[in-house]
Amino acid sequence: MSDNAVRVTLHPAFRKGRVDRRLFGSFVEHLGRAVYTGIYEPGHPTADEHGFRGDVAGLTRELGVTVVRYPGGNFVSNYVWEDGVGPVEQRKPFLDLAWRTVEPYLVGTDEFLQWAEREGIEPMMAVNLGTRGVEAAAALVEYCNGEAGTRWADLRIANGREKPYGVRLWCLGNEMDGPWQIGHKDAHEYGKLAAQAGHAMKLVDPSIELVVCGSSSMQMPTFGEWERTVLSYTYDIVDHISMHAYYEELDGDRGSFLASGTAMDRFVDRVVASADAVGAERRSDKKITISFDEWNVWYLESRFPGEKNLPIQRDAPRIIEDVYSGLDAVVVGDLLVTLLNHADRVPVAALAQLVNVIAPIMTEPGGEAWRQPTFHPFATTARLARGEALDVRVTTPSYGTARHGEVPVVTAAATVDDDGALALFLTNRSAEPVEVEIDHVGSALAVHEGLRMLADHEPAVHGPQHAARVAERCWGPVDVTTAVRPAQGARTTVRLEPESWTALAGTLTTA
Ligand code: AHR
Repeated sequence: MSDNAVRVTLHPAFRKGRVDRRLFGSFVEHLGRAVYTGIYEPGHPTADEHGFRGDVAGLTRELGVTVVRYPGGNFVSNYVWEDGVGPVEQRKPFLDLAWRTVEPYLVGTDEFLQWAEREGIEPMMAVNLGTRGVEAAAALVEYCNGEAGTRWADLRIANGREKPYGVRLWCLGNEMDGPWQIGHKDAHEYGKLAAQAGHAMKLVDPSIELVVCGSSSMQMPTFGEWERTVLSYTYDIVDHISMHAYYEELDGDRGSFLASGTAMDRFVDRVVASADAVGAERRSDKKITISFDEWNVWYLESRFPGEKNLPIQRDAPRIIEDVYSGLDAVVVGDLLVTLLNHADRVPVAALAQLVNVIAPIMTEPGGEAWRQPTFHPFATTARLARGEALDVRVTTPSYGTARHGEVPVVTAAATVDDDGALALFLTNRSAEPVEVEIDHVGSALAVHEGLRMLADHEPAVHGPQHAARVAERCWGPVDVTTAVRPAQGARTTVRLEPESWTALAGTLTTA
């Protein structure tokens, strides 16, 4: 191998851990058009009898989403969940301060949970630890999961739902370290409140899993100290700590943007180290895992004016409806590579968000629903990544970036299931094609399907026609008969296009 050669070593015996299906989650917040004219639009030609759009539900199924987080996000920190249940005509519009939008409360806890149930999606609920606290959080768990015979469970039954919903995943607030958060708290205030709320919630239903808020990004000045302090209060009560990260191309720095997966990788390593340090001090055998419950490309710094600058609006305003390019889709594919490589510590993740708001699915009110370019790598990974993540070793040259220092040119992740079905995901961040040698000594590799996304140089434009043109230019099959070739010994070579993300499906069986 020359100095610049790229080698990916796969061995079916070297495994990182089972890929939890909850890794392919997404997020629906009461924000902009995520709910209204997103998942829900009575009167839309495809709406079902409950008012939920059939076209969006169909695309959600195709996307392969397993979990959906709800109802926020920043929204949850001023949400009064009791006002969103019961007869719709008696619900009073509420001024949501997080997004400065009048919330009509046509969709609340029951409507969302029943939609999720009909779609076979696991709900992940968040409780308000901004303006509210222990009592409201425990009451919501009782409303959702309680058996008949107590106040809040009986209210659910009176509202028409006999059977408990059995919601398993619960977020203890949202981004409570952020000064923008309504009811923002310091780490001690939040840690104590989260421990008390979590304790009460688990007394209502001991089977639930709790996610405590980690830092809202690695750039927060309190990052690290926040995790340490919050976990020092909550270590014994919670199961997961949250991570949130959004990436964007800034100042035309394409190289740094393409390396977002490496930034995410380092972020995960640091949060794991912080959590394990708290566990070590406590001499605990328990491992806190990660709920990466907001991740995506979001042009936050360059396109979003900030929530404080939003006028007060009503009727599902268009807020943060980012339009994506092939380049953004390559980055999303590479972020999924990172998540798969941390399957041992990241069982839950959510692409933020699902529809209209920084989303893989877009809609027009009364009109079409369509796939953004970022839809394709997510749907492909959710479909192919099965079984266990392999401990893939990559030998690759690196390149220098302004934002992340030296980063690998090629990244890779792989999964193999009990029947030997292999999925291999590869990103080439360089502007040149790369020939990758796959070393699978001791096993036979066969590839029968390939798909790839190319990073384009075109500006992203809103609309289904644009999304279709990007897909035509950037997204398509890999001709596995020419791009994947057997080489000497137990080796196979794969040609990767410049600035691309590739998924290969096949088998890896012990020879
Ligand atoms: O996903 C949009 C917003 O980003 C969420 O409401 C918040 O949690 C994060 O800052």
